[in-house]
Amino acid sequence: MLVRTGGPLAAVDPSEFTRTMARVPTPVTVVTTVDAAGRPWGFTASSFSSLSMDPPLVLVCPAKTASCHPAFVAADRFLVNVLSATQSDIAGRFARSGQDKFGDGDMVPSEEGLPGLAGAVARIACTLREVLDGGDHSILVGHVTSASVSGLDPLVYHDRRFTRPEPTPSLTTAG
Ligand SMILES: Cc1cc2nc3c(=O)[nH]c(=O)nc-3n(C[C@H](O)[C@H](O)[C@H](O)COP(=O)(O)O)c2cc1C
Repeated sequence: MLVRTGGPLAAVDPSEFTRTMARVPTPVTVVTTVDAAGRPWGFTASSFSSLSMDPPLVLVCPAKTASCHPAFVAADRFLVNVLSATQSDIAGRFARSGQDKFGDGDMVPSEEGLPGLAGAVARIACTLREVLDGGDHSILVGHVTSASVSGLDPLVYHDRRFTRPEPTPSLTTAG
């Protein structure tokens, strides 16, 4: 297997990198798990992506400095809640460290008994297949065990703001 770990390449200016990535629109998810003691953990994540169709894999990347990081890398399963356009307050809450993130009662036991959001665009339940190194983040590779969607509009993060997509009729695709 060929693995490129990076060599002595020219490095991009960090502020240019973050300014550029801020222009890239992303989904907004809240990823949850429950640790061995039964304590729920969750964090807001835009690093969520589909990875493979066969087998069905997704990935999400928690920072190694996040307080939830030990719980996620030790988890046997996690649940990705893809937030809908009206859920920016939930995204804000799950992005603040040291808060009681689960006190509001909007998270209910869902797939695999993990905390889930009724008003989400999608919920994707996974078993943790692999944890890869991703610099200052870890890459959680999840094997998808169930996936469900609602008809709600998604929340989008773009230019450091929460927004929602505005469909352009001439550009919509069939199916
Ligand atoms: C829109 C948005 C997307 C984010 N995406 C990620 C992400 O993909 N990975 C990550 O580690 N933190 C991400 N964060 C920051 C975490 O949600 C935040 O640091 C969180 O509090 C970390 O969890 P902790 O409370 O357990 O420390 C994001 C924050 C926002 C507002």
